[in-house]
Amino acid sequence: MIIKFSHVVAENTPKGLAAQKFKRLAEERTNGRVEVQVFANAQLYDDDAAVSALQQNHVQLIAPATSKMTALFPEWQVFDLPFAFADEESVRIAMEGELGELMFSLLESEYMYGLAMWDNGFKQLTNRSRVIRQPTDVSGLRFRVMDSRILEKQYAQLGAIPYISRFSDVYSLLEQQLVDGQENTLSNIYTKRFYEVQNYMTISNHGYLGYAVITNAEFWSSLPDDIRDVLDQAIAETTLWIRQNARTINDEQLENLIRTQRLRVHYLTESELIQWHNALQPIYDLLEQEIGKEYIEALQTSRK
Ligand code: LMR
Repeated sequence: MIIKFSHVVAENTPKGLAAQKFKRLAEERTNGRVEVQVFANAQLYDDDAAVSALQQNHVQLIAPATSKMTALFPEWQVFDLPFAFADEESVRIAMEGELGELMFSLLESEYMYGLAMWDNGFKQLTNRSRVIRQPTDVSGLRFRVMDSRILEKQYAQLGAIPYISRFSDVYSLLEQQLVDGQENTLSNIYTKRFYEVQNYMTISNHGYLGYAVITNAEFWSSLPDDIRDVLDQAIAETTLWIRQNARTINDEQLENLIRTQRLRVHYLTESELIQWHNALQPIYDLLEQEIGKEYIEALQTSRK
């Protein structure tokens, strides 16, 4: 039995390594009855294509950034709210509570089944033009964002110009200066070499980037019970592994980034951070107008 697992990032990232770990566990424990074929770097499907490929059972596992689920499920924009989560532990608490339940149950209407949330980490800002300290510093700059309306609105709120593109186009957009900057995790910035075509990086941790590990519902329920149990267990172990290791991987890649000496790095100070929180606060109301209170309250309840 072959399980195709398609994703868009490099191998040496939290998601890339987790996919390999899942493959190892699944193959070992089913004594070769299951073969997991992992396709990294968007070599099989790009972000936008992966979801429909899954629905058609052309692939059986995907792990898109939550932002990429928002075209089908606007409610998933909750994960894109600025400073939605204080840390990875807060994400775990939210996903094991009402928020996780609400989000994963939405998938059923599209014949998908949510298996887990995998951390990457928190997004930082890079750009080629200037040091970004205050929210006003992004004004007038064009930033690539993932395909999520609430991400676009955040940049618009700050007077910047959002530009949606898929992940595999980001490097060339930056290189050709079609955009000035982008937001991403340290592991993505390092492994996709964005530092070659950017001059400044601000450690802002302003948004969470995590992955919805999703399978085709019909495929998953058609599996023999013993195989499905083993695969569920392999997913659970991999989830635990990524939770314990994603932060370290990103920290190591920050050191690698610093070692390149290509980026001038600024860490937001406490008072700058407060300015960012305040400037982006209206985004919560904007999202509430679009999707209603329930989802935002579930997020807020998980913080208590
Ligand atoms: C991006 O598009 O920037 C990220 O979602 C890529 C990824 O999967 O981490």
